[in-house]
Amino acid sequence: MTSLAVDPRHRVEVPLGQRSYDILIGAGLIDDAGRRIVRLGGARCAAVVTDETVAERHLPRLRASLETAGLRVPVEAVPAGEHSKRLPMLEQVLDALLAARVERGDIIVAFGGGVVGDLAGFAAGILRRGVRLVQIPTTLLAQVDSSVGGKTGVNTRHGKNLVGLFHQPALVIADTALLDTLPVREFRAGYAEVAKYGLLGDATFFASLEKSWPEVFAGGPARDSAIERSCAMKAAIVARDETESGERALLNLGHTFAHALEAATGFGPRLLHGEAVAIGLRLAFAFSARLGLVPLDEVARVQHHLAAVGLPTRTGEIEGSVLSAETLLGHIAQDKKVKDGALTFILVRGIGQAFVAPDVPPDIVRAFLEDELRRS
Ligand SMILES: NC(=O)c1ccc[n+]([C@@H]2O[C@H](COP(=O)([O-])OP(=O)(O)OC[C@H]3O[C@@H](n4cnc5c(N)ncnc54)[C@H](O)[C@@H]3O)[C@@H](O)[C@H]2O)c1
Ligand SMILES: [Zn+2]
Repeated sequence: MTSLAVDPRHRVEVPLGQRSYDILIGAGLIDDAGRRIVRLGGARCAAVVTDETVAERHLPRLRASLETAGLRVPVEAVPAGEHSKRLPMLEQVLDALLAARVERGDIIVAFGGGVVGDLAGFAAGILRRGVRLVQIPTTLLAQVDSSVGGKTGVNTRHGKNLVGLFHQPALVIADTALLDTLPVREFRAGYAEVAKYGLLGDATFFASLEKSWPEVFAGGPARDSAIERSCAMKAAIVARDETESGERALLNLGHTFAHALEAATGFGPRLLHGEAVAIGLRLAFAFSARLGLVPLDEVARVQHHLAAVGLPTRTGEIEGSVLSAETLLGHIAQDKKVKDGALTFILVRGIGQAFVAPDVPPDIVRAFLEDELRRS
């Protein structure tokens, strides 16, 4: 086996039998992407799907690495932003891949944030009934969350992520140096998902983040380690429940409230997904406290940490926010499968102790939201 010039600082395996794959984490890894993709075997072409912003900043280095390894490299760059995660764009990407003569044994490279990962992953899953996918995530959110686990899809007018499929990647390359060009607001939003992993299942990790978050934001080894811990947690949960029939739902801690807030604010730049998650995480803890499951000082700790890194934690912090409990509850009911009038929530018994609560009465949620909106 040839040695590679850039050793990943961290390697996390996602153990899924024959579909197992590695997540490589470290600075500078895209320079070796070509050789690593060639080692997957059988591909003559690595078709890159990216967005225009990522292409402008980082495509030349990725392209050089792929071409040096002897791969043909067609590129399709879509406009940056959530608006690209739609069926017409999927068709455009599929057409471009077919026009570039991407064959069954070739590889599609998703090079960007979660939008590109979900769109390119979906395209890879259905092109010629499925070609291999390599995720090269370029946002913190994508490195710790969306590039791992195989969920792909697009939005429709009926809602987010309603059309898609599971298509696990063959490899994930998280080049952490790419995060240096990410706007701090985007980094912070991704950090909400990092904190989420500690809050849902690893109190020690959360405690370490409370101390080391400035170094995580500054980059370097602390950032790489936090990304590795996050990926390891997601990998373990995905390995135990690949298609979300049970435990994988824990990854949605804070997300029921977050999705309702995003829907109420139009999924736009007013409130990024991770910002909604930060508010949602505090709400999940506050709601659990209201149900007598968790002491108030744990809620305060969560709130304090998220606020310390500059994330919003209260609905009142959303710009121009005019929210009603009824609207939010409507979105929650729509988002969730309502069983006999009861809602499923991810609740907590403490930091690092999330669990699935399948039978929460909507009235209690409504009363909680009314209080929250009044106080915020
Ligand atoms: N599949 C999953 O399991 C999963 C999980 C979580 C989220 N998601 C999806 O992920 C999407 C959000 O992903 P996101 O937050 O990465 O958003 P995104 O892909 O829109 O990226 C955010 C912005 O950052 C820019 N950008 C990306 N990398 C950059 C870099 N290195 N330097 C400078 N700018 C860069 C992008 O061009 C974009 O403008 C949502 O659609 C969400 O539904 C999917
Ligand atoms: Zn999320």
